[in-house]
Amino acid sequence: MDIGKLLAERTKYMTASEIRELLKWATVDVISFGGGMPDPSTFPVEDIQKIVNYVLEAYPHKALQYGSTEGVYELRQEIAKFSEEHHGIKTKAENVLVTVGSQEALELLGRVFINPGDVVITENPTYLAALQAWRVYQPKLVGIPMDEHGMIVELLEDKVRELLARGERIKFIYTIPTAQNPTGITMTQDRRKYLLEVAERYDLLIVEDDPYSYFLFEPIQVAPIKALDKSDRVIYLSTASKIFAPGFRLGWVVASEEVIKWFYLAKQSLNLNTSNFVQYIFLEGLRRGVVTKNLPRVKELYKRKRDAMLAALETYMPEGVRWTRPSGGMFVWATVPPQIDTRELLRKAVTQYKVAFIPGHGFFVDESVKNAMRLNFTYPSFEQINEGIRRLALAIKEA
Ligand SMILES: Cc1ncc(COP(=O)(O)O)c(C=O)c1O
Repeated sequence: MDIGKLLAERTKYMTASEIRELLKWATVDVISFGGGMPDPSTFPVEDIQKIVNYVLEAYPHKALQYGSTEGVYELRQEIAKFSEEHHGIKTKAENVLVTVGSQEALELLGRVFINPGDVVITENPTYLAALQAWRVYQPKLVGIPMDEHGMIVELLEDKVRELLARGERIKFIYTIPTAQNPTGITMTQDRRKYLLEVAERYDLLIVEDDPYSYFLFEPIQVAPIKALDKSDRVIYLSTASKIFAPGFRLGWVVASEEVIKWFYLAKQSLNLNTSNFVQYIFLEGLRRGVVTKNLPRVKELYKRKRDAMLAALETYMPEGVRWTRPSGGMFVWATVPPQIDTRELLRKAVTQYKVAFIPGHGFFVDESVKNAMRLNFTYPSFEQINEGIRRLALAIKEA
């Protein structure tokens, strides 16, 4: 049967994630700098074991039942409290929606806001899987260049003016301001304020994706844009994936009650609700302070791993290779000489040198940059970081 004939128009915009493909290789003898996986030693396994037992004893009938689409009310309250304590975001349970990881929130944004031809503005480069989620809804993706201080907001304002003058419909500006994926760059506080001013001036919505502000390695003082937002124009996303365990698939949105209402409707047909069992486990994790207790240890480990990767890059990389010094998060972003296409390099690196990374192409809205790569430093061991960078340097030298 020819299934291809039956596919919807939008299905052709669905592409396989290079990250997902690479995760398959992580099991063989390849050292992988591919996926954004936490170090498994950071999972609070013993605490989770106790919590699972407690949840099943204390409220099995709620935890194993269907739940409300917005999420378990007590968890929404607890997330509101956590948002204030960790990020200075003043909010309440009614402004919180629990999602199946932040990835679901990215999908909800597409479902709720994007018509074909609408404009979505992002940093360039940006999170590959966000672009992938939205491409299905056929927006015009407009990328704003970055420097070491984050998105260049002056250029953003020029671009916004130009787009509006042309009569384009801008649906939102997507930013990962803290320890950005893929560059590790943190946007300065001045730029954050300026970005919010631009959004206010032109009446635009901002989507702030924040999985990594828990892991800032430098003493940088920045507040989430959401904490500065007086006009309810910031939709803030965060996740338990990097601070608890990604296997639970739990994230959340903080936004105006109106946005929460539309997300609620869109989520209803998607999956009815985020697993109640998982929500009660994370609720207990927050109440018992498991997350807060764990964070300093995890941050210290990731800082040492970042430093190990930077040291290995310094030792092994040939002339002409450049890389960022990430202020936090999980990734180094490296650029090789322009004659090397990192997609081609990857094939050779994996088959011959047994080392993997994510080629940079897919992080750019137009895939125009072909000589960049993202390197994850949290998942591999210290030995693998050193050996993997040594192998990668050999592959680059050969190319
Ligand atoms: C910027 C960004 N947003 C969203 C996600 C999705 O995270 P999750 O669905 O695990 O919460 C990630 C994961 O790496 C990410 O880096």
